Amino acid sequence: MQKPNKRLENQTCIVTGSSSGIGKAVAKAMGSEGANIVVNYHSSKEKAEEVADWIEKNSSCGNALVIKCDVSKEDDVKNMFNKTIDYFGTVDVCVANAGMQIDHPLHEMPLDAWQKVIDVNLTGQFLCAKEAIIEFLKRGMRKDVSKSLGKIIHMSSVHEEIPWAGHANYAASKGALLMLMESICQEYAPHKVRCNSLAPGAIKTDINKEVWSSEKELEKLLKLIPYKRMGVPDDIGSVASWLASDESEYINGTTIFVDGGMTCYPGFATNG
Ligand code: BGC
Repeated sequence: MQKPNKRLENQTCIVTGSSSGIGKAVAKAMGSEGANIVVNYHSSKEKAEEVADWIEKNSSCGNALVIKCDVSKEDDVKNMFNKTIDYFGTVDVCVANAGMQIDHPLHEMPLDAWQKVIDVNLTGQFLCAKEAIIEFLKRGMRKDVSKSLGKIIHMSSVHEEIPWAGHANYAASKGALLMLMESICQEYAPHKVRCNSLAPGAIKTDINKEVWSSEKELEKLLKLIPYKRMGVPDDIGSVASWLASDESEYINGTTIFVDGGMTCYPGFATNG
């Protein structure tokens, strides 16, 4: 992890789905920048508590609060924001990270598998962004902590751009996030809200364990990454912290791909 430099001191960040994987790395990285962190989980309370403990014990971090919430349920999301505001006073950064994959060939995809992925990956991000904006507008500027009214970071994927056979529900949810993010920017940038997406490539987490735990599959995957290594969650954590900080103040309505070049279609290097 990069050496922290307190770029988020006195700010409060909600990171959804931060009990593991990319969300956990983002929570730790933002915590290390001095932020208070809401560690949100859906089912792994113990893992969320471990992340919160790490933040609480690390002297460069702010404080941590663990909140259970299913981001696809409006009442849960409202409750998470209310608890956060009661405890920390406000919300400055919302990282809408929680996401899932339920993979099927399209002609075999049960409606349930389609709906669940859209509910969590897309509707969940809408609900979180909405509550964040409500709080930003109500609270007004905090000029002592940030030049922006508030920051929203959507966790997208290279699959907002790269089609993905066998994963149409996931790719559709990420493609839609692009328009959600850009529309939010267009609507709320005049209020000094910043809304951007991060689009990770193949980051080594549980979501793609099946691929990286098989040597043969990993070799195939590496052919898709010009930089020739899988990403690690900290690759996303460090960019997310910077994107939430004033160092990136003029970035708004953009997707930043953090993918080792995956979106440069390496298959075309010797073909086409
Ligand atoms: C998916 C991973 C996949 C990566 C690259 C991510 O959005 O969640 O499973 O390895 O995209 O295809």
